[in-house]
Amino acid sequence: MESPRAVVTGSSSGIGAAISAALTRRGFGVERISRTSGVDVTDVKEVKGRYERMGDPTPEILVAAAGIQMPCSFPNVPYDEFRRVMDVNVAGTFIVAQEHARRLIAANRPGKIMLFGSPSGRRPSLENLSYGVSKAAVLAMGLGLARGLESHGIKVYIMCPSHVDTPMLRGRGFDLNIVPLMKDSEFAEEAVQLLILDNTLDGQPLYFSRMVTAKQQ
Ligand SMILES: NC(=O)c1ccc[n+]([C@@H]2O[C@H](COP(=O)([O-])OP(=O)(O)OC[C@H]3O[C@@H](n4cnc5c(N)ncnc54)[C@H](OP(=O)(O)O)[C@@H]3O)[C@@H](O)[C@H]2O)c1
Repeated sequence: MESPRAVVTGSSSGIGAAISAALTRRGFGVERISRTSGVDVTDVKEVKGRYERMGDPTPEILVAAAGIQMPCSFPNVPYDEFRRVMDVNVAGTFIVAQEHARRLIAANRPGKIMLFGSPSGRRPSLENLSYGVSKAAVLAMGLGLARGLESHGIKVYIMCPSHVDTPMLRGRGFDLNIVPLMKDSEFAEEAVQLLILDNTLDGQPLYFSRMVTAKQQ
């Protein structure tokens, strides 16, 4: 029998690293993607090359967790920073999801794709507008993919965690006495349960709070 496999982007840190570890503990072979492992998700050639090196069959699961933020008050945001956040969070997610789905569809194989939005995709702040706008785009991408890929047997999950303790979040300088953080390993367990159990979720965004309860909204 084929052993289960997954592709995880953003695997070098935070949520991607914790999900990679949780999948590995459950016997998955994990194909890790990050700049640290030599692939920038905004580079179509690098992403395609990485999938070619993985060989067939394409892993059934994709966790597209690569992302960045560059907080800066709106009037002062350099255009290059806005573009970079959109490139990594939106284009990078698109490039990997497209390569993965195209290969699954060509091989007539079912699969599961997990994308990362954020509550700030629905409530962007002026201090981190580029990030909020990029995550709104990922929400829209996820909804479109969920509807469109269902007929190919590919399920799409849109994760919108709040305050998971990672280097990205620590970089925002939250007062940890006021904002309780969820451990990345705790969140990863929730995410992996969704990926490995059969469920009837229909592609709506899933919001996770400190209480580790998934809510579909
Ligand atoms: N932490 C939270 O509370 C929270 C809340 C809502 C949503 N999210 C989302 O969850 C995802 C993971 O966030 P995190 O908190 O775990 O952040 P993190 O600790 O900063 O990790 C980000 C990951 O993305 C990778 N990455 C960044 N740019 C890349 C690029 N161009 N190509 C390939 N990989 C790239 C980084 O690896 P390299 O530097 O090695 O490339 C790293 O592995 C993000 O999409 C984030 O927006 C997080």
